[in-house]
Amino acid sequence: MVSTFSFPTRIIFGPDAIHELPREIATFGAQHLLIVTDPGVIQAGIVDPIRQLLDDARIATTFFDGVDPNPIEANVDAGIRCYRKAGCDFIVAIGGGSPLDLAKAIRLRVSHDLPLEEYDDLRNGAEKISPEMPGMIAIPTAAGTGSEVGRSAIITVKSTGRKTVIFSPHLIPSVAICDPKLTVTLPPKLTAATGMDALTHNLEAYLATNYHPICDGIALEGIRIANENIQQAVEHGEDLEARSAMMMAAMMGAIAFQKGLGVAHSLAHPLSTVAGLHHGLANAIMLPHAMRFNLEAAAVRLKQVSRTLGIDVHELSDMDAAGKAIERVRELNTQVGIPATLGAVGVSERQIPALASQAILDGCHLTNPRPCSEQDMIALYRAAL
Ligand SMILES: [Fe+2]
Repeated sequence: MVSTFSFPTRIIFGPDAIHELPREIATFGAQHLLIVTDPGVIQAGIVDPIRQLLDDARIATTFFDGVDPNPIEANVDAGIRCYRKAGCDFIVAIGGGSPLDLAKAIRLRVSHDLPLEEYDDLRNGAEKISPEMPGMIAIPTAAGTGSEVGRSAIITVKSTGRKTVIFSPHLIPSVAICDPKLTVTLPPKLTAATGMDALTHNLEAYLATNYHPICDGIALEGIRIANENIQQAVEHGEDLEARSAMMMAAMMGAIAFQKGLGVAHSLAHPLSTVAGLHHGLANAIMLPHAMRFNLEAAAVRLKQVSRTLGIDVHELSDMDAAGKAIERVRELNTQVGIPATLGAVGVSERQIPALASQAILDGCHLTNPRPCSEQDMIALYRAAL
């Protein structure tokens, strides 16, 4: 079988990397930027210094912060109007996964005319996406989605009410500027949830069925880094070393999951759209259950995960060694303050049919190491309740 691999993102990484922004913009010859961000990032005081940096460099900007926590199509429409009205020719996204994904969708739709649902990855959307779109610089302020190096945008589409994955290599931001100093004000709860999202990306990518040893190597190192640093980043948010490590683990997760994800993500997506849970929190709660579901089908790989998590497995059978990885993920959840059950975050039994009927339509489980039916998903939600 012939495979295609590409790792094309230009990444500027490290404390104070943000100061490179004007120089990067100059290389594109951009005249007027649309800055896509969200009100929380502005309130956290992250945007003002960046605005100053751009003003000092005499770069024209228009700010747009109309993004829902889980971006919806109406946010995209409003962003496009703002982009056109101001005569923008370049996009800079500042924030967590939501503004970054929204910026990608705006970038797509200012240059592509079909309705958004036509670009759904499940409808071969990638074939309809050409490289002709405005340039984009992504500046993450959380370490979780890794959207800054990702080739997908997740938007809840009007016609279906479903979180829809739009996927194309052309959606990868032109440049990612990753400055861990921008994440130090992220509160512990969000640091925990976004960090567990990063761990889930690495772990699910490693177990995903596609052939991609390059991503496997990145995923394992991402698991190791997240495991060793998430608690410190949660408990000591000002620790730049831990913040840098988590930002790297998040980026590695997103690079790795071009290989594919798994059932935890398919279960997590409806928990956001139906039950309003934070994406990372939903993944963190579902991940041990997904691993248990995959235990037999992926025992050898889970054993390797256990090794990567620092567990001595050489006296253990594959199954026992694999089981240790699940125990460690549960322990990590406890250490960073993630509630153990869906019930504890307000999800009820009567929501499960609606959750499962959406989860089965989600594409992430197609690369899960064990095939998964809607009944399996109902059982997984029940087990997590
Ligand atoms: Fe995720």
